Amino acid sequence: MSAILRDPRVEIRLMREGDLESVFANERSAYSHPWTMGILRDCLRVGYDCQVVLLDKRIVGHVVLSVSVGEAHVLNLCVAEEAQRQGLGRRLLKRVMRLAREKEADTVFLEVRASNVAARELYETEGFCEVGRRRGYYPHDEHDREDAIVYAKSLL
Ligand SMILES: CC(C)(COP(=O)(O)OP(=O)(O)OC[C@H]1O[C@@H](n2cnc3c(N)ncnc32)[C@H](O)[C@@H]1OP(=O)(O)O)[C@@H](O)C(=O)NCCC(=O)NCCS
Repeated sequence: MSAILRDPRVEIRLMREGDLESVFANERSAYSHPWTMGILRDCLRVGYDCQVVLLDKRIVGHVVLSVSVGEAHVLNLCVAEEAQRQGLGRRLLKRVMRLAREKEADTVFLEVRASNVAARELYETEGFCEVGRRRGYYPHDEHDREDAIVYAKSLL
């Protein structure tokens, strides 16, 4: 972890319109149900905090945060499959937690598929607590849906 924090090959910066093709490709590599290009573009248009992480100058991950009236929501956190397990997801999460604090949010919320062991491990080790469950929130396959676990972390 401390190695990746100092790694000069890693850069996190604001997402730009010109990044969207790469961001979309990473979505498709990482998610069974990726966001569409339209959703990603809308996130930039409405002014959400959208950040990308670059490894050796290549965009390999992104995070989207919305903040309003004291509440922050991590809407997306994604690292391309080939770049996972190198500490980049944790770095992106820490970056948006800092942004949420700067914007004076009291609490950060997020939702995750119940079966998503990797993401749940990450959130729990960053101090998020399970605060609810939304039954059948996510599509699973054409016959089934999957529950969302709601996590929260207080910034106070
Ligand atoms: C979840 C995700 C963002 C993690 O990104 P990452 O860069 O691989 O994660 P990191 O290397 O920073 O690992 C952080 C922690 O996550 C947990 N973790 C990550 N991958 C894991 C895995 N395959 N199994 C179990 N725990 C895992 C571990 O606690 C890890 O800490 P450690 O390395 O000290 O053990 C990434 O797996 C991903 O993009 N998945 C697909 C999209 C997704 O599910 N996003 C979350 C939606 S809510």
